Amino acid sequence: MTETNKNIFPVHHEIMSREEKEIFLNQRARVIWLTGLSGAGKTTLAKHLEKELVSRGYLAQILDGDNIRTGINNNLGFSPEDRYENIRRIAEISKLFLHCGIITINCFISPTEEIREMARHIIGAEDFIEIYVNAPLNICEERDVKGLYSRARRGEIKEFTGITAPFEVPQKHDLEVRTDLGPVEESVKQILELALPRIALE
Ligand code: ADX
Repeated sequence: MTETNKNIFPVHHEIMSREEKEIFLNQRARVIWLTGLSGAGKTTLAKHLEKELVSRGYLAQILDGDNIRTGINNNLGFSPEDRYENIRRIAEISKLFLHCGIITINCFISPTEEIREMARHIIGAEDFIEIYVNAPLNICEERDVKGLYSRARRGEIKEFTGITAPFEVPQKHDLEVRTDLGPVEESVKQILELALPRIALE
């Protein structure tokens, strides 16, 4: 703890509780964390999920790598240290949403076990639903939605996940969806089956 931190007194007890907000919204707040390679389909799935949740009366917010990295995390790059800090801040932001009673759908490569473990730790295992959005590297590269894989192959982007930076296959995920093997609706259905019982307020 720094000298300055010693003089800060958070006032959690005076703030309306998470439970009160969850009752107000008629939902349990959770973090649906989508991990996977760039181009695996995280953002596409998140948009569908958000619609499905809202159509059931649930309030959800997408947190997405490209958006967060042009805003609050615009000072971070793709070194292992910066990726760690990127995910640490995002996990803290997700926690703020949890305390507002709001579900977040997080789309971040979050490439290592260490990084995902850190996020789980900050958010709390109870509220953390980890989904491995899996499409093989060659498929993501073929899709190359943003043209980044070909640039990475040409050496124009350093430390590109899957090419010159690691992606560790998740070991602790709650669910794996293969976006190359079926339509997006199928993956969304699987995620909803897992997440809805954890969102519903009994
Ligand atoms: S993470 O590794 O720190 O979790 P994050 O999900 O925030 O990454 O950002 C990934 C997005 O940044 C990719 O979808 C891609 O559009 C872009 N990007 C730019 N440079 C890189 C890179 N070197 N590696 C991976 N993604 C990159």
